[in-house]
Amino acid sequence: MRKNVIAANWKMNKVLSEANQFADAVVDKVPADDNVEAIVCAPFPFLPALVEKTKGSPIKIGAQNMHFEENGAFTGEVSPVMLRDLGVTHVVIGHSERRAYFAETDETVNKKTHAAFNHVLTPIICVGETLEQREANETKDHIENQVRKALEGLTDEQTASVIIAYEPIWAIGTGKTASSEDANEVCTHIRSVLKEITSEDVAEKVIIQYGGSVKPANVDELLAQSDIDGALVGGASLEAESFFKLVEAGT
Ligand code: G3P
Repeated sequence: MRKNVIAANWKMNKVLSEANQFADAVVDKVPADDNVEAIVCAPFPFLPALVEKTKGSPIKIGAQNMHFEENGAFTGEVSPVMLRDLGVTHVVIGHSERRAYFAETDETVNKKTHAAFNHVLTPIICVGETLEQREANETKDHIENQVRKALEGLTDEQTASVIIAYEPIWAIGTGKTASSEDANEVCTHIRSVLKEITSEDVAEKVIIQYGGSVKPANVDELLAQSDIDGALVGGASLEAESFFKLVEAGT
């Protein structure tokens, strides 16, 4: 039985004082529950404070991106070494906004995924289709290609511990949530691809999240689906009470 992983993706929001207020509001509320894992993926400047404030609590802290190199002449970038040194445990890789605006490719997603494992960071690998691809009935082929390229070269043990976030691009930030049936159909396809590239046993271990306008009002129906094991949440994760309700739904 897989646990639910509820991850906040704050994107480029808040200032440090608000991040601290959020942590103070949830740190004693989020339950230590084997059925759910709560992660807050925050902007780089907040990571040290959030790691410190959540120390000893069930809440894990993640980054929203990283470079695949350990160090060097990459102005403005953040390395996996720096994130691990801070006590960060997870990193979002390949979010559609990074693919769209910051030249993230399937190749760099794969390099970052390997770098994450090399530095004991759990990758949350984002895949998702555009509305045009969905309307052209290209969703499953597109997602399959993204999954295969992201995981290329991983050991089965590494693949078993990745988190894959299926985020239909047309549902992100739009208030248009995919129906739980449609979301689950894609997540089931992702799991079938995982079975092909590894084994049934490994595929059954992989956490597959849904992301795209998840909120407390729709999270229960999504989490009830056979192949949805959590959510990667943007807007509805910014408020402490809302995030707590999402985590509670996963217990
Ligand atoms: O990574 C999660 C994000 O893309 C979803 O955003 O605001 O639709 O929950 P939102």
